[in-house]
Amino acid sequence: MKNLKLVVLSLAAALCAGRVSADAAADAALAAHLPQIFAQAAEQYRGLLKQMESQPANTHPKRWENGKLVTVKPLDWCSGFFPGSLWYLYEYTKAEDFKAAAEKYTAIQDPVRRYTGNHDIGFMLMTCAGNGLRLAPKPEYKALLMDGAASLAKRYRPDMKLIRSWGPIDNMKEYLVIVDNMMNLELLEWASKNGGDAKFDVLARDQADMTDANHFRADGSALHVLNYDPRHPGRILEYRAGQGATVTGTWSRGHSWGIYGFTMMYRETKNPKYLARAVKSAEYAINHPNMPADGIPYWDYSCPGEERDSSAGAIMASALIELAGYVEGAQAAKYHDFAVKELTALASPAYFAAVGANGNFLLMHGVGSKPANSEVDVPLNYGDYYFLEGLLRFAGKGRRVER
Ligand code: GLY
Repeated sequence: MKNLKLVVLSLAAALCAGRVSADAAADAALAAHLPQIFAQAAEQYRGLLKQMESQPANTHPKRWENGKLVTVKPLDWCSGFFPGSLWYLYEYTKAEDFKAAAEKYTAIQDPVRRYTGNHDIGFMLMTCAGNGLRLAPKPEYKALLMDGAASLAKRYRPDMKLIRSWGPIDNMKEYLVIVDNMMNLELLEWASKNGGDAKFDVLARDQADMTDANHFRADGSALHVLNYDPRHPGRILEYRAGQGATVTGTWSRGHSWGIYGFTMMYRETKNPKYLARAVKSAEYAINHPNMPADGIPYWDYSCPGEERDSSAGAIMASALIELAGYVEGAQAAKYHDFAVKELTALASPAYFAAVGANGNFLLMHGVGSKPANSEVDVPLNYGDYYFLEGLLRFAGKGRRVER
């Protein structure tokens, strides 16, 4: 009887939040678990903040490996995720200590405004200043985002119609573009709609169009790295495995970036081509024969039985919650329910560390780059960030939830 009441109450809450689900019991269970998940997450991150008191100034925690905390400086691609997670914890808990910490660690990101060394500026800024602007607005956040967008735009060559992901802007031997770059386009879309250069929207669409045309195989799987010919725009010199197992495999986090990035670009542009790409990418992942029952992918779809990548599962879950809002009926329920399955798994002891364990990070079992034998089966700050974002989106909160 108590369970029935819980299901009915949660269903009512889901309907109010506009959720679509074919599995009301799973929805109700996750909804009921949310307060405890956020309480545990808050306690863990208070522990992480305590650890940071003895770390060098102007650094952020990135991972925990071999019993040690590894930190990064503002120009690392992972620098925005810790302050971003602090913003998400503030959003859910409304606790002033998280707001103060989020402000402190967002302020560290100031040097990113002039950075042009790679494409990761969107990751570095939308996570922290983007969420800060939404939750506790300050003019400096807007200025930082605007400057960061202008810096990112410097990596775009109009004849190539692409933002160069890695390497010097003037390199004429190679022009490397990775699928992850879809994630940085949100900064350009934001800037073009909030008083920045309207052309930034064109850059973002060009990048999405080129990625849609060239970064996916016929079965919908994403390639990680393409090397375009900087002397002959449009020509592809080579495909590289990058962080994937092989050039024919599918790196699971890269594939999740694709689902998330095209869902975001559909939100920003309403171009149906981007929705079609997001859907095809989601279908590839959901229906993959090597997708484990709990929905958390192996680090590469071609490596069943090897390490899972909890970050790939968290990114995918957050993306699917949003994607479910852009399709109808059974398809919407399918994406929503898969995301709920993933979030439920991630919030279980199989992935969600007990308070005090895991170096105070939330999720265990992330993989940074297995081919480089780097960050294999460790907690990663971006896994935590997208886990919290997915949970907030499930709760009808969070950044950029449209219904
Ligand atoms: N953008 C780098 C990664 O996902 O590992």
